[in-house]
Amino acid sequence: DRAIKIAPSILSADFANFGQEIQAIEAQGADWVHVDVMDGHFVPNLTFGPQAVKAFRPHVKTVMDVHLMIAPVDPYIDAYADAGADVLTAHVEAGPHIHRTLQAIRGAGMKAGVALNPGTSADAVAHLLDLTDVICVMTVNPGFGGQKFIDMTAKIAELRAMIGDRPVHIEIDGGVTPETAPLVVAAGADVLVAGSGVFKGGSVAKPEVYGENIRAI
Ligand code: DX5
Ligand code: ZN
Repeated sequence: DRAIKIAPSILSADFANFGQEIQAIEAQGADWVHVDVMDGHFVPNLTFGPQAVKAFRPHVKTVMDVHLMIAPVDPYIDAYADAGADVLTAHVEAGPHIHRTLQAIRGAGMKAGVALNPGTSADAVAHLLDLTDVICVMTVNPGFGGQKFIDMTAKIAELRAMIGDRPVHIEIDGGVTPETAPLVVAAGADVLVAGSGVFKGGSVAKPEVYGENIRAI
């Protein structure tokens, strides 16, 4: 059996308290820490940039998984390497040269991720599998936490078959709950991003709720 990793998205954390929030989710069993970077252009929301991500770095003891919802990507790759990203994920929809982008991410010393919006087919990554460490299948249209899960299980199964025995993770992002997680895992996913599903009902003063939420997923 594949080991399933839970990657809480700090998009649902207290924005005035990122350091403590990251420490709390890691103490409560997070496997990766998912960092959602939005530019108000590729997606209709804005979060934070490389300077903030660099400030998160010393708090992350596990894996800092940075999901770029920005266009263009290439001018910022070095800044996220310098910020200490372990995994840097770009959207296939963010520009015409995703192949070059993935090469550049690995060239800067990071693991390369490629994300697919719900409307994008699995075929979009068919020629990228040897350049990719993580395929992120969006199960919401990116931009906001707390949206309703869109069923992408057929796409996940198709990707798992395409990947074969390559060491590529399939990460699911959006609407992951105790109800939807088993569906995507059965289809072949092994990294589950969860924002509202982990942070709901908890706080840095009540971190045990994060642990309960993580174990429920
Ligand atoms: C969506 C982001 C997600 C988001 C997931 O734009 O990429 O990482 O925070 O949030 P939930 O788990 O609440 O759907
Ligand atoms: Zn994300």
